[in-house]
Amino acid sequence: MATATAESLSDAAREFASGPHGLVIGGERAEAADGRTFETIDPSTGEPICEVAQGGAEDARRAVEAARAALDGPLRKVSPSKRSGLMNTLAELIKANGEELAELESLDNGKPLAAAKGDIAATVNHLRYFAGWPTKVEGETIPVSARDVLCYTLREPVGVCAQIVPWNYPLLMATWKVAPALASGCATVLKPAEQTPLTALRLGELALEAGFPEGTLNVLTGDGETGAALVDDPGVQKVAFTGSTVVGREIGAKCGRALKRVTLELGGKSPNIILADADLEAAIKGSFQGIYFNSGQSCNAGSRLFVQSDLFDEVVGGLTEFARDAKVGPGLDPDSQFGPVVSEEQYDRVAGYIDSGLADGAEAVAGGSPGDRNGGGYFIPPTLFTGVSDEMKIAREEIFGPVLVAMPFDDLEEVARRANDTEYGLAAGLWTRDISNAHKLAAMLEAGNVYINTWGGGDPAAPFGGYKASGIGREKGHANLDAYLETKTVWTQL
Ligand code: NAI
Ligand code: MG
Repeated sequence: MATATAESLSDAAREFASGPHGLVIGGERAEAADGRTFETIDPSTGEPICEVAQGGAEDARRAVEAARAALDGPLRKVSPSKRSGLMNTLAELIKANGEELAELESLDNGKPLAAAKGDIAATVNHLRYFAGWPTKVEGETIPVSARDVLCYTLREPVGVCAQIVPWNYPLLMATWKVAPALASGCATVLKPAEQTPLTALRLGELALEAGFPEGTLNVLTGDGETGAALVDDPGVQKVAFTGSTVVGREIGAKCGRALKRVTLELGGKSPNIILADADLEAAIKGSFQGIYFNSGQSCNAGSRLFVQSDLFDEVVGGLTEFARDAKVGPGLDPDSQFGPVVSEEQYDRVAGYIDSGLADGAEAVAGGSPGDRNGGGYFIPPTLFTGVSDEMKIAREEIFGPVLVAMPFDDLEEVARRANDTEYGLAAGLWTRDISNAHKLAAMLEAGNVYINTWGGGDPAAPFGGYKASGIGREKGHANLDAYLETKTVWTQL
């Protein structure tokens, strides 16, 4: 492992990061059928970390077969309470290996180690929450009109799942998908993002160590082609995807044709609204974190800031100060507050948006064009644009990087209309001390999540998902179980 940032790693993390890594299929580590591999890259240096198997259609087929074999065999025999126990054991194993997992995440994704530790803690909580569900999935007895009929429903696992996750919160997003699948008694094939495969592979190992039957959780590493092959596999009954809206549309269309169950968590261009009576200190601090946390690479990032006109200069001034003080550096450097963006592709994409904002006449009052990275890490400073109009590309398209556009507004109806003038609807936020305005505006905003005087609150029990082009279905909470269960209605003539 060439990369210099890796020097600070613990022995366990260094050993795992040395690779090479095969796929996890049915309890075995396997090379890709055609022997292909790819390199996962350290975004803090641009250097390769290790070689990982590039799964293809044949590997997808084998992984789906392994999942089906588990489902029809040993997994079926695991009682709900035993499944709950296995999930809690997995949560404990993740906790026990938390240091290693956080280091791997920081190395592979670039995020600060402290943030990676937060992801691991959230992962443990998520598994523990869903571990409570297997014993509480109940059918119903239906009072039908026909005489002498006993009618009841059974809730059964939907089958083999294909779960495709992105690179922004690699282990946490994998767990958002895997936990409800396991709770429902499904077997799954997890496809991590090609930028960040390491912690998903470790998760696959830990699931086996926890005692889940082989084939319950398979890990198919690779890129978009790998994911497409997995979605296309006829043995898959349910697809769950988090990522870009472009790919989400394609997966949704495929699943529509094949009538596979599908849930999609897609992009956003989420409005964050500061009203004139807001607690300014809290609003500025919260709005800063709301966009720049994870270097802006959150699906629910508050990327369009609307500020009531009188406060505009003060808010922009406060944000600019925070941005100037922000420490951007390698994730494994304890001084770093923000890491690099995840990949060269993402760096170029975000830099392109910054250039387009400048070309359109917006002013970068913090950050700006990151310039040449001289072959190093993918660092982009927190960037804040003013002089932005609603029509500019930087105000309409998801940038998925540390870039915020700030725009003034005058009244509630106006800001609600502008906030909703987007194809997306994942999140929206508002800051005010007026409880009546808060709820009036919350009702007007077209978004699956509304944050009042905070940004990004989350809990495994609280549903999360998007309106409009931000997705289909909900993750987290008991609503998420429905995505992994079929309902069977049984009629008995007595
Ligand atoms: P992407 O949507 O291409 O990738 C996400 C996952 O889907 C990865 O595991 C990838 O390998 C897989 N994938 C790609 N093409 C696929 C296909 N045709 N069939 C099945 N699986 C496929 O996202 P990408 O290219 O990494 O990022 C592009 C943009 O997407 C970002 O700039 C951002 O705007 C958005 N994005 C949004 C995320 C969110 O959390 N909502 C997460 C990641 C990206
Ligand atoms: Mg892509």
